[in-house]
Amino acid sequence: MSEIRELYEANNQGHVFEFYDALTDAEKTSLEKQASAIDLDEIADLTARLIQTSDCQDSGFSEAVEPAEYIPLEKNEGGDPARWVEARAKGEAALRAGRVAAFTVAGGQGTRLGYNGPKGTFGVSPILHKSLFQLFAEKILASSKIFARPIPWFIMTSQSNHDDTITFFEKSDYFGLPSDQVNFFSQGVMPAVDEEGKILLAEKSQIALSPDGHGGSLRALVRSGATRQMEADGIDIISYFQVDNPLVRCIDPAFIGFHLEGNSELSSKTVSKAYASEKVGVFCQRGDKTLVVEYSDLPEELAEATDTNGELLYRSGSIAIHLFDRDFVHRLGSGTGESAQLPFHLAHKKVPFIDSKGKINAPEAPNAYKFEMFVFDALPFANNPIIIETAREDDFSPVKNARGIDSAQTARDDQLRQFARWAAGAGIKVETNDSGLPAAAFEISPLFGDTAERFASSWDALENKTELTEGVVLA
Ligand code: UTP
Repeated sequence: MSEIRELYEANNQGHVFEFYDALTDAEKTSLEKQASAIDLDEIADLTARLIQTSDCQDSGFSEAVEPAEYIPLEKNEGGDPARWVEARAKGEAALRAGRVAAFTVAGGQGTRLGYNGPKGTFGVSPILHKSLFQLFAEKILASSKIFARPIPWFIMTSQSNHDDTITFFEKSDYFGLPSDQVNFFSQGVMPAVDEEGKILLAEKSQIALSPDGHGGSLRALVRSGATRQMEADGIDIISYFQVDNPLVRCIDPAFIGFHLEGNSELSSKTVSKAYASEKVGVFCQRGDKTLVVEYSDLPEELAEATDTNGELLYRSGSIAIHLFDRDFVHRLGSGTGESAQLPFHLAHKKVPFIDSKGKINAPEAPNAYKFEMFVFDALPFANNPIIIETAREDDFSPVKNARGIDSAQTARDDQLRQFARWAAGAGIKVETNDSGLPAAAFEISPLFGDTAERFASSWDALENKTELTEGVVLA
């Protein structure tokens, strides 16, 4: 018996090799490879702590938690315009010095959207239906031109969408970016287990594996060599965003400036929650630690509590936009120094599996546990974390669902509203409804203008100004 099989037998996971003898040589090799990559002690430990002892997951909430402080937007109460001007200048200098990389986490399974393909290839822009990846590529290209430095882009995929993602970029000629400016690496995986912690088989020759969560990005950045490459290239700021947010400012000089000014290892953007029960995590403070409390862990009376101005007390919503200090990622992602590893969370899911008779089972109720890390769990480990406020309408409109809230439709409308605001700001007459949605759908390419100011100056410079009627694209 091979060493790996013996190890699995000794750890009570011998069933993984139940069908081994009947496999082809290639299948045997592939199963052994998958099996060798799993840390069985870690699985046993997670099973004992998270599945078999139900009360041991730290919900992140305790009596000692308070709302975290944040730097308000310049236009909002408490905002200091001069401070924002200074931060912007500092961020621009860092960009001109080539210190910043963009980083997209695109390894998720996108189950809620139900789209067949990597989520980043999903078309979202109102007229041209540009994909999420194309919008980000054009924003990064625009910033690279403005700051006269190529901004490297790192994209984390997962085992199941890695090849399709790369093919998509190759076929589209990297959307105008030099191909060596774009770096792909695949995130880690974790096996799904049943109630007893037994690893499930997806096929006779395959373990049921799924990505290890967006928090897995930190160790993937280290394992893939990305942090080392950044170090060699003089990059110390990693601009992190999710693949599902077409509005995100991939590169935001003011944010970068605040991050540097605060000597922060991990900075985050916040928006005020739209309503008390909105499903976003909330930035909180516990002693000297900043953390995100998930919406499901925030007691209802606190979620609804208001301050003296009548605003939600716990309003500071997390929108998964961060800046990471490269050394911090390296420390946390390699589990060195005093930093512990990010904790795993449990997700109870329906996972099809091969039973002991070799039959495929497609469960109708959750039958398995998946282990995932969350990126915001890095916050309590960071020195000097800072949070800045951003305008939701300029930074956040996630595509999560096939329809309804946070869907392609809401993201399309939010893009159109942004275009209408920019046009109105440049003095163009645009008819809109009460929600700011323009009567005629038009599109502004990030390469024409990726902010209100840059749109206005491109518009000013435009010789043949067209009317912004239905279907017009400013490219
Ligand atoms: P979500 O939490 O929305 O998960 O990911 P998802 O897998 O995309 O979608 P559902 O829940 O199956 O419908 C938020 C962001 O984190 C990335 C996603 O690609 C998305 O950008 N992510 C999530 C990863 O990169 N890896 C993961 O393991 C999980």
